[in-house]
Amino acid sequence: MGKAAGLDAFTQIHETEKKVSGRKIRIGIIGTGWIAGMHAEEYLKMDDVEIVALADIIPGKAQKFADQFGIKNCRIYDSDLALVENEKDLDGVSICTYNCQHAPCAIHALDHGINVMLEKPFTVTLDEAIEVMRAEKRSGKILTIGFQPRMSENMRMIKKIVQSGELGKIYYIQAGGGRRRGIPTPFGTSFIEKNTGGIGAVGDIGTYSLDMLLGAVGYPKPLTVSGYTSSFFGKDPDYYPGHPEYADKFGVDDFAAGFVRLEGDIILDFRISWAMNMNTSGDALILGTKGGLRIPSTDCWNGDFGAPLTIYKTLCGEEIEYKVPLKPSGDLFFKKLRAFVDSIRFGGKPTVPSSEIVINQAIIDGIVRSAALGKEITVQIPEV
Ligand SMILES: NC(=O)c1ccc[n+]([C@@H]2O[C@H](COP(=O)([O-])OP(=O)(O)OC[C@H]3O[C@@H](n4cnc5c(N)ncnc54)[C@H](O)[C@@H]3O)[C@@H](O)[C@H]2O)c1
Repeated sequence: MGKAAGLDAFTQIHETEKKVSGRKIRIGIIGTGWIAGMHAEEYLKMDDVEIVALADIIPGKAQKFADQFGIKNCRIYDSDLALVENEKDLDGVSICTYNCQHAPCAIHALDHGINVMLEKPFTVTLDEAIEVMRAEKRSGKILTIGFQPRMSENMRMIKKIVQSGELGKIYYIQAGGGRRRGIPTPFGTSFIEKNTGGIGAVGDIGTYSLDMLLGAVGYPKPLTVSGYTSSFFGKDPDYYPGHPEYADKFGVDDFAAGFVRLEGDIILDFRISWAMNMNTSGDALILGTKGGLRIPSTDCWNGDFGAPLTIYKTLCGEEIEYKVPLKPSGDLFFKKLRAFVDSIRFGGKPTVPSSEIVINQAIIDGIVRSAALGKEITVQIPEV
């Protein structure tokens, strides 16, 4: 399937407008590590986009990245701030730094009037997320968070089913999935160190798991959180053959759980894992007064379940189950970046708005704070 065929109808309608307006969208990439490579590959496929600037704080890394991806005539900077201060005609940036640099980089870019595609998780703490949203408000620019599963038809189907009323009033949602062995260290330790990753599994893949369920039920606000985090695997030198020193560097969670009361009398039962002695923490469930939805266990990042959704109902006194056929998801990463570019070009809304993901972030922040205190806490999301 050609890439254009994978775009949604909105995008295709505007193909002609793109040709008329002529000018290419000018993009910068901040942080030229692993995920930046995927951003570069997708932007390079778009003939109406040019990558004009790259920044990384590690000397020589951004230039090496430009050479590796064949990005010609782009300017190279040694920090995000140098990039946004010097690039006067930039349309947007992809922020691909490790988690602890999400907030400062996003605030710098927005304060310089630049539209932002911010990789997930939104931030490390709730307070940081609020500061970024204040910068978004001051700037009037687009801020979208990098959740490619949002572009999956199967993920969208979950929301459609819930919003259709087929399940009745939703009162309980349970997160599942996670990994048996999957602490992300293939490219170094930026995910596992406190001063770079900031949060572990709870933010890295927990944020996707939360988005899938909370998005479906309309992102109700959290009221209280009782959270738990642990790091038994991450701190074990035997976990890392050839790299036992990683155990000393491990400063985040590799497993997290939470019991969350949400507005609208909904309970969220959450668990997520980078490592555990189990193949899955289960399927995700949505329970309503008229029906239930089972979402097969997922790795939580690529929008795929590998098996159909199942709906459970009672019909004429009979307990019935039916399957929702899976649809092809297409190239989600391309779609996520294309949606960002189109929102810049046509003045559209962000695909994954901060107003939703701040609630996700408040739950993550609540789990981390409650776990540290060893008791349930109340959650308040400050005004932006
Ligand atoms: N959407 C996805 O599927 C997906 C997948 C992997 C990672 N991610 C997210 O992407 C982010 C980056 O992950 P990664 O694996 O590429 O990390 P990485 O450590 O490989 O790369 C991050 C880069 O950012 C640079 N950097 C840090 N602060 C900077 C600053 N102020 N200015 C310029 N450069 C700076 C670092 O030097 C490093 O080169 C993480 O937040 C992660 O959660 C998303």
